Amino acid sequence: MKIYVTQPIPEPSLSEILPAAEVAVGESGISEEELIRRVRDVEAIIATPPVKITASVLAAAARLRIVANCAVGTDNVDLAACRERGIPFTNTPGILTEATADLAFALILAVTRRLHEGEALVRSGSWTGWRPLELLGVSLQRKVLGVYGAGRIGSAVACRAEAFGMRVLAMVDTDPPERFEELLAESDVVTIHTPLTPETRGRFGDREFSRMKKGAFVVNTARGPIVDEAALVRALEAGHLGGAGLDVYEAEPRVHPGLLGRPDVVLLPHLGSATIETRLGMARMACQEIERCFSGLPLKHRVV
Ligand code: DGY
Repeated sequence: MKIYVTQPIPEPSLSEILPAAEVAVGESGISEEELIRRVRDVEAIIATPPVKITASVLAAAARLRIVANCAVGTDNVDLAACRERGIPFTNTPGILTEATADLAFALILAVTRRLHEGEALVRSGSWTGWRPLELLGVSLQRKVLGVYGAGRIGSAVACRAEAFGMRVLAMVDTDPPERFEELLAESDVVTIHTPLTPETRGRFGDREFSRMKKGAFVVNTARGPIVDEAALVRALEAGHLGGAGLDVYEAEPRVHPGLLGRPDVVLLPHLGSATIETRLGMARMACQEIERCFSGLPLKHRVV
């Protein structure tokens, strides 16, 4: 069995679960043309978020029997093309919930308590000792956390927020528009956890930021294109928003230049699920789906 893995994934996953497979491992940044060349005779693809599995890639892989995503997000794969070709597509729900919620909460704390500014001050050697007015942040207790996308990860962030004494206002995409307006108007921190779909692309733009409270914070650990980065920069430059914590970007790995120099923004390189345990668990889940597919067993996390 020939498998193409779009980027190196943690071991032991492939070696234990699919020991007989002939595995080729790729890297991000290769062209679609090159990817097409590499998948021509594979029977399974383990996909990862930065590598797009387009309709043309799927069409070229004539022997393909499954695409197993090593991610819960599905926007890197053309699902309609999978459906059309009858190629099952699986993802990794659940296993990364706690790690991603932890990171979202770490960003909430980092932006509201100005952790990166404090760290930079100490490292610069120019810190002169405790001062009553130094780097004052914002307390979370009794503040409102707006959870946009109260699925597994959003709900896990909500649990953490409650432990910090926050009031949670949570919603899902299918809630009536008034709920979204309420979330924008009342939240001190908005945290985004919805999948990227045509409906959620650009969901947070100039209008939404202007509806948010002055001094409110935005945290995004879902998918970059849900936030219009240029609009976010405008809202920060205008002093309307208090800050932003971002783990994902509109055109990764590029980051809007207007965000890079801002002290009120914390920027992480898509680390939501990046713990050893979680990434290994995700890799194992993807391999197990391929194993099931080749053993004729029902898939556990089939999306298409
Ligand atoms: C996902 O799983 O979709 C994340 O973005 C990567 O862990």
